[in-house]
Formats: sequence, structure tokens, C-alpha cells
Amino acid sequence: MELTQALIDEHVLILEGLGYLKLARDRIEKNQHPPVAFFKNAVPFFRNYADKYHHYKEEFLMFGFLAAKKEGLLDLEIGSLRHQHESGRGFLTRVDTSLKGYDAGNEIAVTSLLENLAAFCSVLSRHIFMEDRVFFPMVEKELSPTEKNTLLEQFRLEEQALETRNPVEKNLELLNEMQRLIGGTYNDD
Ligand SMILES: [Fe+2]
Ligand SMILES: [Fe+2]
Repeated sequence: MELTQALIDEHVLILEGLGYLKLARDRIEKNQHPPVAFFKNAVPFFRNYADKYHHYKEEFLMFGFLAAKKEGLLDLEIGSLRHQHESGRGFLTRVDTSLKGYDAGNEIAVTSLLENLAAFCSVLSRHIFMEDRVFFPMVEKELSPTEKNTLLEQFRLEEQALETRNPVEKNLELLNEMQRLIGGTYNDD
């Protein structure tokens, strides 16, 4: 379980961030105006930690390894997970581009922020659920202990590279800022 447990642990932080985003979404639905600074912390957290770090390890290391090993048998599963990563990138970019107008109170920008925020939360929540409950257990069954160790080693190298590029601690600070600026916790159960 060590291989996928590392990714599941990262999901916990990403889900915490998603909880704050859902809180922001709920407030916008009620015509409240979460501070734009909240979103300015959220965008780099999801872009750097969830996407460039976590999704990178899944997509370019794990999925690539599995696709080569299973020679096309997992194309559908891997393709749908990759597609969800890609959709999330698009939603997040549109969240980012709506922020200037949102801050100025432009109603079209508020709507754009809301729809992309809602889509981002929804797609990423389902994605994480499917990885934790369906895909990762399958990965644990499919890979041999040696293959898991090889991938874990690649994960470690990527984690070291990230520490110089964009330390995890900086991302945790972004997450803390999100919590401070939204001023609450979100329970999705
Ligand atoms: Fe993923
Ligand atoms: Fe994931």
C-alpha cells in the first residue's frame, strides 16, 4: 500500500482545499463575496500542489508505467482519469481569469467564477473518490513489489525536484491562508 498511500495522503490535503472552495462556492451562491485574496491563494495551491506535483506523479509516472505494462488494457480507465486532470486545468485557468472582474463586482465574471468553481470542485471530488476507491486498489493488485519500488523511487526523485522548485511547505502555507481567508471549515459528508 505504500505506493498508493502516498497519493491518498496527498488527496487528504487536496480534499481540504476543495472543502474551502466549496465553502466559497456556497457563499457566492448566496450573493456573498469571499475575498479575492482567497482565490489568489487557491489557484497556486491547486496549480502547483494538486496539478504540477500530485497529478504529475500520477499521470507521467504511474499511468505511463501502467499503460506500458498492460499494453492498452487500461486505456479507458487511464484515459478518463487523464481527461479529468485536463478538465480541472481548464476550469482552474478560467477561475483565475475571472478574478479581476469578480473583484470589480462584474456580474458576468461572478457567474464565470461560480460555474468554473462548481465544475472544478465536482469533477475533482469525483476523480479523487474514483482513484481512492477503484483505481488505486487495482494498481496495488496489478503491480509487483519490484515495480512498486521502482515507481516509489521515481516519486521520491520527483518530490526532491519539487522541493527545490516549489517546496511543499509553501503550498501548505497557501492552504492555511485559504482557511484563514474563508474563515471556516467545510464538512462534505
Ligand atoms: Fe488523479
Ligand atoms: Fe490523485
